[in-house]
Amino acid sequence: MIGVFDSGFGGLAVLREFLGALPEYDYLYLGDNARIPYGTRSDAVVLQFTQQAVEYLFAQGCVLIILACHTASAKALRAIQQHYLPWHYPNNRVLGVVIPTVEEALARSRRKRIGVIATEGTVASNSFKIELRKLDPSVQVFQQACPLLVPIIECGEQDGEVADLMLRKYLAPLLHQDIDTLILGCTHYSILKPKIQQYVNSQVEIICSGEVTAVKLADYLQRHPEIETRLSRRGRRRYLTTDLTPRFRDLASLFMGEEIAAEVVQL
Ligand code: DGL
Repeated sequence: MIGVFDSGFGGLAVLREFLGALPEYDYLYLGDNARIPYGTRSDAVVLQFTQQAVEYLFAQGCVLIILACHTASAKALRAIQQHYLPWHYPNNRVLGVVIPTVEEALARSRRKRIGVIATEGTVASNSFKIELRKLDPSVQVFQQACPLLVPIIECGEQDGEVADLMLRKYLAPLLHQDIDTLILGCTHYSILKPKIQQYVNSQVEIICSGEVTAVKLADYLQRHPEIETRLSRRGRRRYLTTDLTPRFRDLASLFMGEEIAAEVVQL
């Protein structure tokens, strides 16, 4: 199976893109809803939680896991790839959303002035900036933490005035820098894409990591038959969550576009 992990529901928007691009595979989704948000937590805690999730998904039979959570991709992926996988699961793989997003942003940016909006944790890790600069040292990167966007969306206020107010506030410094590309560096922000489009110039390329990662995943599977041939292809989907709150149904539908039935698990 392909495991898809997020701190909560937001990763369902990433999974939805995978299902559109690669529907034939079996997917196991895990949302750590009991411990969301990850965006405000320390590096050590994000690594600990993410590693527990990865272990759980491997134990369920996943051979490839995508960290749909940007905060986990930014703060935990490298340590898991370098210090955990080689010792515990040398034949399995864990991939994230930062590298595919960065590659796409650089390919689409004409003037190499790239804005990034993300959680506080992702911005503090500088992961997007570091990876963008590795591929193109001349790129100018402007980051903006948007701590209120996740709670606004999780409270169902994504279409309301408060979302407009905060988007205007968060986007203003980036627009002031005359960015030509904007990375939506958090699972939740694709929900706000129509609103974001209203505030940025139509020339600005908006990069949604879910869409981009789905295309790159298809490419990865073609280039890695040693992983691809171990994946089951019966079109099955299973959803796991560490907490099932009364709002689960609404939020899951918001990100997934349809209702899902989830099982509660403990990591
Ligand atoms: N999934 C997180 C991300 O993409 C956002 C929610 C959280 O803070 O845990 O960064």
